Amino acid sequence: MPPVVTPDAAEQSGTTLEQIMGLEREYLLQNYSRYPLALHRGRGVYLYDLEGNRYLDLISGIGVNSLGYAHPRITKIIRQQAGLLLHTSNLYYHEYQGKLAERLAKVSGLQRSFFCNSGTEAMEAALKMIRAHGNSISPHKHEIIALENSFHGRTLGAISVTGQPKYRRDFEPLLPGVRFVKANDIAALEAGFSEHTAGIVLEFIQGEGGIYPVSERFARRARELADRHNALLVFDEIQCGVGRPGAYFAYQLLDPVLLPDIAIAAKPMACGIPLGVVLMNEKAAVTIKPGMHGTTYGGGPLACRVALEFFDILDELLPSIQSVGVYFRQQLTEAMQRFPFIKEVRGQGLMIGVELDRPGASLVLDGIKNGLLFNCTHDTVLRFLPPYIFTEQDVDRAMAVLTKLFERFA
Ligand SMILES: Cc1ncc(COP(=O)(O)O)c(C=O)c1O
Repeated sequence: MPPVVTPDAAEQSGTTLEQIMGLEREYLLQNYSRYPLALHRGRGVYLYDLEGNRYLDLISGIGVNSLGYAHPRITKIIRQQAGLLLHTSNLYYHEYQGKLAERLAKVSGLQRSFFCNSGTEAMEAALKMIRAHGNSISPHKHEIIALENSFHGRTLGAISVTGQPKYRRDFEPLLPGVRFVKANDIAALEAGFSEHTAGIVLEFIQGEGGIYPVSERFARRARELADRHNALLVFDEIQCGVGRPGAYFAYQLLDPVLLPDIAIAAKPMACGIPLGVVLMNEKAAVTIKPGMHGTTYGGGPLACRVALEFFDILDELLPSIQSVGVYFRQQLTEAMQRFPFIKEVRGQGLMIGVELDRPGASLVLDGIKNGLLFNCTHDTVLRFLPPYIFTEQDVDRAMAVLTKLFERFA
């Protein structure tokens, strides 16, 4: 299926990809290696480039565009709020921060919220809470346990707990006292804890690391050990939470639910408007007193109001995120019979990884040429994070293209 050119020429941009690339080469920090594609607009599960070519979206801006593009209810709320009030700072109250925190407390089981603007910023706040918690007990209680192969963001604190050398090595020395343990290695987890441990951070399903879930036994043992050593348990739900796994949070997939002390979330909550949150119980909340932490933009009226609307819509979407995810994984698992280079299909809800026996970068580029957007993480894992409005018909459309890509890749 080649990209489809939309009939509406008026919607085209007038700027060329070459012009954009030229400007960026000259004026931007050269920290990204982008794909050769410039996007102009989106509608539903489709994106359109500068010339009006159409792409089915299986990546949603790395898990952010949760309701696809130009969702009528989100667009309406943004228009209304833009005409009322965009920013207040946290010097003053506005109507929506408390309402959103109440909503999040109901769906997460964690009583209090701190709002910020991104995932990594939420991680920084969680790390400060871990440190403040440890310091309130003893000056030696400052160690943090994190997992190998994890990803928690790009700021200095977040890379200090990110268990992948490629993100860390140019910036050392990082935060001292971080111990990395292998995911699902319970003996290593037990050995990592001591009276000096102030907290442990983990992704319930490692995202950037290749869509690897932690086992229930490992997660429950982390809870027990954190309790025994009076340490805070932090779940990073930035990629694997907020509807993506077919539940509000990935930790709710376990029965009974396994509550952390702190859960951090960001990406999908405000449908493309930056918003991060640290959710916490009272034990974690008492670590921060007035003046100890803050942000200028975090929890502004626009982002909070959009997130409230998002949660209203998400309530109705959760069952289909679950069922469409099962259907997508079934189709991919069937494809394994035909294409032996597919080693494994993993994931929950609409967070899906396809492990290949070789690097998958060329598949991503072939996908772009054929109107399908996804990415490849850890060299060999195709990552699919489609918008939550994805249907089985959308999966069929995606599979038709993927099958052709796989045939050429074989
Ligand atoms: C699990 C996880 N934590 C943290 C982050 C960092 O979030 P942000 O890029 O919004 O800072 C990401 C981003 O991909 C993530 O997947």
